[in-house]
Amino acid sequence: MSTNDEFPTDRPAVVTCGLPYANGDLHIGHLRGYIGADAFARALETLGQQTAYVCGSDMHGTPVAVNAEQQGVDPEEFALEWHRQYEETFPKFNVEFDNYGHTHDETNTELTQDIVHTLDEEGYVYEKEIQVAYDPQADQYLPDRYVVGTCPYCGEAARGDECDEGCQRHLEPGEVEDPRSTITGNPAEYRKRAHKFFEVSAFAEYLTDFLDGLEGTSNARNQPRQWIEDGLQDWCITRDMDWGIDYPGEESVASAEHGNGDDLVLYVWVDAPIEYIASTKQYAERVGTDEYDWEEVWREDGEIVHIIGRDIIQHHTIFWPAMLEAADYNAPRAVAATGFITINGKGLSTSRNRAIWAKEYIDEDFHPDLLRYYLTTTGGLQQDVDFSWDAFQEKVNGELVGTVGNFWYRSLLFAYRNYEGTPEADVSGEVHERIQDAIADTREAVNDYDLRGIGRAATSLAQFGNEYIQHNEPWKLTDDSPDEAIQVIRDCVQIAKAVGVLLAPIAPEKAQALWDQLGEEGAVGDANLEIALETPPRHFDEPGELFEKIDDDRVDQLNAKLEQRIEEAATDEETESDDTDGDEDAAMTDTDDLEALAEDRISFDEFQDLDIRIGRIESAEGIDGADDLARLEVDIGFETRQVVAGIKQLHNLEELPGEKCVLLANMEPAELFGVESNGMILAAGEDADLLTTHGDAEVGEKVR
Ligand code: MF3
Ligand code: ZN
Repeated sequence: MSTNDEFPTDRPAVVTCGLPYANGDLHIGHLRGYIGADAFARALETLGQQTAYVCGSDMHGTPVAVNAEQQGVDPEEFALEWHRQYEETFPKFNVEFDNYGHTHDETNTELTQDIVHTLDEEGYVYEKEIQVAYDPQADQYLPDRYVVGTCPYCGEAARGDECDEGCQRHLEPGEVEDPRSTITGNPAEYRKRAHKFFEVSAFAEYLTDFLDGLEGTSNARNQPRQWIEDGLQDWCITRDMDWGIDYPGEESVASAEHGNGDDLVLYVWVDAPIEYIASTKQYAERVGTDEYDWEEVWREDGEIVHIIGRDIIQHHTIFWPAMLEAADYNAPRAVAATGFITINGKGLSTSRNRAIWAKEYIDEDFHPDLLRYYLTTTGGLQQDVDFSWDAFQEKVNGELVGTVGNFWYRSLLFAYRNYEGTPEADVSGEVHERIQDAIADTREAVNDYDLRGIGRAATSLAQFGNEYIQHNEPWKLTDDSPDEAIQVIRDCVQIAKAVGVLLAPIAPEKAQALWDQLGEEGAVGDANLEIALETPPRHFDEPGELFEKIDDDRVDQLNAKLEQRIEEAATDEETESDDTDGDEDAAMTDTDDLEALAEDRISFDEFQDLDIRIGRIESAEGIDGADDLARLEVDIGFETRQVVAGIKQLHNLEELPGEKCVLLANMEPAELFGVESNGMILAAGEDADLLTTHGDAEVGEKVR
């Protein structure tokens, strides 16, 4: 649908990730975004795309003010302290921003006031009296997180400005039902106040077109389309607080109108995304605008790529592009919204301490590139990704140690021992082509915002390398056919180098180590992908192993620690009320064990594509050699289908014949343990409770 040129383009690009609120420790949920965006920015660069990767701390708003108040410190001091911590933490995960600013600095303050001033001048801002929640006992207004209640859209518990546990919608002041003050716990009163509104509703048509051309993940297009269809509301852009950026030019007016000591500042979601621009500007000012032209990016036609969490899609695909358009700025090219992280299958929860903390990972002394690899390649960008120490171990030991590390080490060691480096020969045609294919796959993955695909291009090339060396057995050739041995090893050294180049965006430090072992100069990340095909230095030193296995005892210990922590938090009484940052506390008590509901809606047409039929099981038997699989024959009216299902342990197979079942009939055929499976039996939950019908639907009937 997009009409954009493919990456690389001859225009500068900027990659951003959602700004972290400067209000608490970073955890794996944050890291997924920052690592993902970092890897994406690096990958763009290897394509030859000029790219700046920028971010900054989100200093304002109630998320910061509430936490600072709890600690009894000034919000500015509090936020700056966290800001400094974040600055130190990111490089430890090889997350290297070209600029990391914060929303309270001068650049952002000025730019924000300037942009809001323009919105006003252009006639998109108006003032309106609204009902604002107020706590009479605390004698203060209750913006955003100072109030909790019920979401008017989905009925879930919600905060004042976001339905964080339910439909993820942004809520306007006064919208939350049954409001209660988080300061005193008392029911809130409503009071009339004048506030500024940005006329988002005027941009419905613009935004519809914008979404049609938007790249990134599909959820970032589909959800806002629905919101536009439901009707856009104008957006309240001021708050009754004193921590924030003043509404431009109206400080005195605001306090006069609202009485003594009452302040009005811009809503945090106005100045936060503007930091994307401010941070780019700071970068350009540092390196020189000849080197990087921030205005070309933001005011003309550079490539703006936002990588965000899926809880803030509305801000990035409705409010933000409307603001950019109204103030005459460039529109984002892509919004890629990542899924959440679950821990051992359950929602990440900071208040329940069910999280992996950034600091904890560093203290455990695991290499950052391992987590980078895990988080970028475990699921698609849009999917929720589960983290468990077991899965982490499996991925590291299997793909990084077993496939990549093993291939790197054995190739380089063989080359070193027999030829003191890269043997003199040309790379064979087959291998040259295979590397070219991998480069093409990477290119395509970058253009699809597919981080997992970037990782896969590298690992499957290493896999090919392992098979190549195994198949050609160079160790048998050195004596009798030295030329053949030279050819095989020459090829392997090239593949090893190529894997390093392709893996560099995801595992930059490990790729650099390989680069150094090959005797290459400079930084692997500075090179274009094509360098994967250039001959490595003739001589290099004895290589070492770059990845290390994680053993079972270690995993047992890590699991025990995590469990203990969660238990302690559960017995800690304060758990309930204490959760002020919980970006991703998707889990609720009664649905704790359930998989989260999908955010993305599909169309009726898409549903129609599923050919689901009523069937009758004719026979069921276990498949030899497979612990869990059974072979079923299912009558679906027109024909009898052979289906493989993972139910051997879960059902008494002898009792199944004669039972009605529900079968996805147009599932792609697959082969499992040598048996073709031609359809999929539908079942619920871990015990594979087989679906059937309530009445007497006949065999062959379509489910609709
Ligand atoms: N701090 C916000 C959050 O954690 C994200 C701000 S992103 C930006 O949800 F667009 F405002 F920059
Ligand atoms: Zn809701």
